Amino acid sequence: MPHKPFKAVIPAAGLGTRFLPATKAMPKEMLPVVDKPAIQYVVEEATAAGIDDVLIIIGRNKNNLSNHFDSVPELENNLRKKGDEDKLAKVQQSSDLADIHFVRQGEPKGLGHAVLRARAHVGDHPFAVMLGDDLIDERDPLLTTMLSEYDKRGATVIALMEVDPEHIHLYGVATVEATDTDDVVRVTGLVEKPKREDAPSNLAIIGRYVLDPSVFDILERTEPGKGGEIQLTDALEELAADPEGPGVYGVVFRGRRYDTGDRVDYIKAIVQLAADREDLGPDLRPWFKEFAATL
Ligand code: UTP
Repeated sequence: MPHKPFKAVIPAAGLGTRFLPATKAMPKEMLPVVDKPAIQYVVEEATAAGIDDVLIIIGRNKNNLSNHFDSVPELENNLRKKGDEDKLAKVQQSSDLADIHFVRQGEPKGLGHAVLRARAHVGDHPFAVMLGDDLIDERDPLLTTMLSEYDKRGATVIALMEVDPEHIHLYGVATVEATDTDDVVRVTGLVEKPKREDAPSNLAIIGRYVLDPSVFDILERTEPGKGGEIQLTDALEELAADPEGPGVYGVVFRGRRYDTGDRVDYIKAIVQLAADREDLGPDLRPWFKEFAATL
């Protein structure tokens, strides 16, 4: 039976401690990447993949997140009076994007716990999870590929990326087997943040998932794991290891990704995206070259 249209869940309730003090009163998902908050790129990515129902999991400092996706009559009227249609369109863009819902996580007990908070909204249907600080370049549409893999295989699909062994301890890491499709693998095991010498491969989980709703039952009983947090990776490991179940597949992503939760990657994202833009690139590129020559 065909499933209902996919909904997207964006967990944005983490503490964002790597970005303190910027994240003291603002979620890291609201940090601007050039001139848009990171999370807006993620919502745009969902809509580009055909998803128009988005649930954002919010924590403390929820107001600036929900305000961003709301309309602002005072500002809009002001711009309308001035006839500044360009800026008016920019203000309205985020409130017109999708049907956006919010639910609170309460305590930040981990990504698995945040995803479980989506259960009532998602129901018994497959859904996408998109991390709000993980940006995938719109020129490399990963989510669309993952949704069609879900449709083809009827099983959970995660996004994987080859990472340097030096950084592997920062990720969930997969044990995989090849399938009949290039860059699609069957995931036979998962481990959260292994030591470099224990990592089963160089394929790390990145922040896009298309999950079978059976993950909710598993998350209900998943005990805190690495870092004392309820880990989504641990629940996925159980799905992958179940010989009776449909298993877990991985799409190996080879495109452009920006991890805006990490300070160095955040700066790189701004530089790369701004340099590529038609309105900013021509002024920035010569300056970058000059600056790079001084390093
Ligand atoms: P991270 O581990 O990157 O987020 O979680 P963090 O804990 O906020 O970051 P640091 O290390 O302290 O800087 C991955 C994603 O899961 C969300 C985060 O908002 C981020 O998008 N998350 C994490 C939750 O929604 N709830 C949680 O309890 C934990």
